[in-house]
Amino acid sequence: MRLEGKTALVTGATSGIGLATARLLAKEGARVAVTGRDKARLKEVEAELGQGALALKVDVRSAADMQDMSRRIQAAFDGLDIFFANAGVAFGTPLSATDEARYDELMDTNVKGVFLSMQAVSPILREGASVILSTSWLNEVGTPGLSMLSASKAAVRSLARTWSAELLDRKIRVNAVSPGAIDTPIHGRTVTEEVQATKDRIAGNIPLKHLGQPEDIAQAVLFLASDASRYMLGAELVVDGGFAQL
Ligand SMILES: NC(=O)c1ccc[n+]([C@@H]2O[C@H](COP(=O)([O-])OP(=O)(O)OC[C@H]3O[C@@H](n4cnc5c(N)ncnc54)[C@H](OP(=O)(O)O)[C@@H]3O)[C@@H](O)[C@H]2O)c1
Repeated sequence: MRLEGKTALVTGATSGIGLATARLLAKEGARVAVTGRDKARLKEVEAELGQGALALKVDVRSAADMQDMSRRIQAAFDGLDIFFANAGVAFGTPLSATDEARYDELMDTNVKGVFLSMQAVSPILREGASVILSTSWLNEVGTPGLSMLSASKAAVRSLARTWSAELLDRKIRVNAVSPGAIDTPIHGRTVTEEVQATKDRIAGNIPLKHLGQPEDIAQAVLFLASDASRYMLGAELVVDGGFAQL
C-alpha cells in the first residue's frame, strides 16, 4: 500500500495503459479518479475500482470539460497528489493524405489535451504532488507516416521539462513515462497501413521479442508517482523492452 492516503487522477482510463494504471494505483491504496468519453466503460471501471473511486466523462480537448473535471475532483478529493496525463490517440498522418481535421484531432488530443488538463488540475495539486506525462519512443526517431504522432510526443516530452521548472517552488515533480510498443486497443482503433506496418516491424525488432503489456507501464507510473522516485524531476522513463536502447 505505497499510496495509502493519496489521491490520483488518470486521464484516458477506460482501456489500455490508463486502465491498468488506475487499477494498480487503487490497489496501492490511492483514491483514483478516472476519465474518458465512453460512459458505459467508465461506469464499469468505477464499479471495479470500488468505493472512493470517481469516474468522469470528459473530453481532454475541451477546456470547459477540463475545468469541470478539476472542480469535481476537488469537491470529492479535496486535492490531488498524483496526476497521470495519459489520454491520447495514435494514427498515421502521411503528408500525402492528411487533412486539417485529422491533424487537429491528433494534436488537440495529444498536446492541447495534456496542456488543458494540466492547466485545470494545477491549482488543486498538493505540495509534493507527482505529475506523470505519457510520451512515446516515437519522439526519438523518424518513422515514415507518423510525423504528427511523433511530434506530439516530442512536445509532451518538452512539457515535462518546462512544467518541472514552473512548479518547482510548489515541490511538484513532473516526469514522463515513455512506453515502447504496448499491446493495447490503441493500435486497432484507428489503424492505418503505416501504423500496422510499423507495429509488425517493431515487434520483431524489440530485444525482448514481444510487445509490452499495459501493466508494464503501470509499474513505471507507480514508481514515478511514489516517493521512491523523489530525486527524479523533468525526466523521461523509457519502458520499451530495450527497443530504443540496444
Ligand atoms: N500502446 C502503445 O504502444 C503506446 C506507445 C507509446 C505511447 N502510448 C501512449 O499511451 C497513452 C495510452 O494509450 P493506450 O495504448 O493505452 O491506448 P487506448 O487503450 O486506446 O487508451 C486511450 C485512452 O485515451 C482516452 N481518450 C482518447 N481520446 C480522448 C479524449 N479526446 N478525451 C478523453 N479521453 C480520451 C480513451 O478513452 P475514451 O475512448 O473513453 O475516450 C482511452 O481511455 C496514449 O497517450 C498513447 O499515446 C501508447
